[in-house]
Amino acid sequence: MERCARASGKVILLGEHAVVYGAPALAAALDRGALARALPADRARLVLGARSGAEGDGSDAMRAFAALRASLGAPPLAVEAELEVPAGSGLGASAALGVAIARAVLLAVEPELSLAAPEACARVLAAAAAWEGVFHGDASGVDAAAAASSGCIHFSRTGGSEPVRLERPLPLAVAVAGPPASTREMVQAVARLRARRPEIVDKAVSGVTALVNNARLCLEAGDLRGLGKLMDLNQMLLSGLMVSTEAIERACDSARRAGALGAKLTGAGGGGCVVALAELEPEPILAAWRAEGLACFAATVGAAEPA
Ligand code: PMV
Repeated sequence: MERCARASGKVILLGEHAVVYGAPALAAALDRGALARALPADRARLVLGARSGAEGDGSDAMRAFAALRASLGAPPLAVEAELEVPAGSGLGASAALGVAIARAVLLAVEPELSLAAPEACARVLAAAAAWEGVFHGDASGVDAAAAASSGCIHFSRTGGSEPVRLERPLPLAVAVAGPPASTREMVQAVARLRARRPEIVDKAVSGVTALVNNARLCLEAGDLRGLGKLMDLNQMLLSGLMVSTEAIERACDSARRAGALGAKLTGAGGGGCVVALAELEPEPILAAWRAEGLACFAATVGAAEPA
């Protein structure tokens, strides 16, 4: 029987790029992400919104789908998937697709399995990592961990993902500040900077580690003002890694002028989205962005549900 699976999009509150080099990151799952359903088929097929592919067509999407199915040991299936967040914009679209498709495939081939069971969660994450590997090369795994979660998570490459207890919900505003950018290219640009000037990247990575550790304490204490300041400092370090753009800086500045406690890019940068933290209501920030012609939305992040 056909059943629909979901996965969350995400914003990174702090820690993108540094997480690739072992720093921790804090990510928050969005209530919009990706949907997928899978049906038995003779040949693997994948329909992604208006685009479709079939087994052997050589596209990245079909290679990723093959890697995902191989990870789950699944037979050929026809999958239809849809995105609820813009792709290439730092909201974890590709990982949300990977997690939603992996969940849909498991539901189709092992209908008696509970997706909430730890074994199923581990298989979904491994399959989503195989999917992400085709698009991103050296993905840290933070996107897939957030896509498979709710609420807020603390993630590191060595420690994996753990839920963060929030003393207060986070009123966030998200704007699409620039055109989509390739995560793979942005991660490679930071790797090139590190090869030329290792001290710049290594200092940023230890700076981000300290910011993330303090931000976790702020989340657990409900100190949104402290969290906002740490987000602003993280944005400065990201600018130092040359992954910010003028459009991102403008969107951060207008959010702060409209009362945001902090604002930064989310994801790989080079374009894409900005996330701002409001004290209570995100509406004044959204109004400022709309006046500048930016597409935007509000998202409230609550506590992570226990796995
Ligand atoms: O651009 P996104 O949403 O895929 O986020 C990427 C986050 C990075 O830290 C830049 C890369 C990674 O794999 O962690």
